Amino acid sequence: MAGAEGASATGGLMLPPGFSLRAHDEIDSTNEEARRLATGGAPHGTVVWARRQTAGRGRRGRSWVSEPGNLFVSFLLRPSKPASEAAQISFLSALAVGETLDRFRPAGSTLAYKWPNDVLLDGAKVSGILLESAGGGPTGLAWLVVGIGINLAHHPDDVERPAAHVGAGATPEAVLAVLAERLASWLARWECDGFGPARDVWLARAAGLGGPVTVRLANETIEGTFDGLGPDGTLSLIVADGSRRAITAGDVFLPA
Ligand code: BTN
Repeated sequence: MAGAEGASATGGLMLPPGFSLRAHDEIDSTNEEARRLATGGAPHGTVVWARRQTAGRGRRGRSWVSEPGNLFVSFLLRPSKPASEAAQISFLSALAVGETLDRFRPAGSTLAYKWPNDVLLDGAKVSGILLESAGGGPTGLAWLVVGIGINLAHHPDDVERPAAHVGAGATPEAVLAVLAERLASWLARWECDGFGPARDVWLARAAGLGGPVTVRLANETIEGTFDGLGPDGTLSLIVADGSRRAITAGDVFLPA
């Protein structure tokens, strides 16, 4: 299937208009492949999907375990909005994942969003999202790659960051078809209406909102109360002296 394009080689998988599929049995990293395609001029809407990654990567230089059965996909986007707003796409992506998993997750399970773009199933991480981009062009953003991993059939053991998987019946093909449709829908809404609607929907299912959180930054760990999102998606934290801090990047830990 390496390099196959379109529905014929992918079990009839259909993507929304404007998206085109490049499917691989195995690749180093779908994000890396999407970067290669981006620098080679591939268009907005190129979708790279692999059944297995040999060098899947996560945030902050971590690796992403990528055995068959789970979903590994990257969307190459060339947004028309300025680079300063591109980080909002990580929230749109989390919403697309969450709404997709609402169709596949077990009855009675709970789904929540953890800042900035994790999706939790019964409190454990079921999906991770990695945005990578390059500057340039009229908007200041030449391209943006949204890499999404969803644990469908299995999950890694990680004591510090408990993980979960969706389970029965959730095949990568079926989940990708819904995911692409939900992402296309959120991108279109964002282009028209801005970040407000996505922000509201994300906050309605935000894990730990109003409670204590620990935020690990590159050189500092901060304790505080998770007070909401800034208008641009920054994490708003009330710290011990009562002041508010806006966090743009970091790892959030919720109480067990
Ligand atoms: C995280 O650390 O939470 C982000 C994980 C992102 C993993 C996905 S799997 C598909 C895409 N290709 C990669 O190499 N990484 C992302």
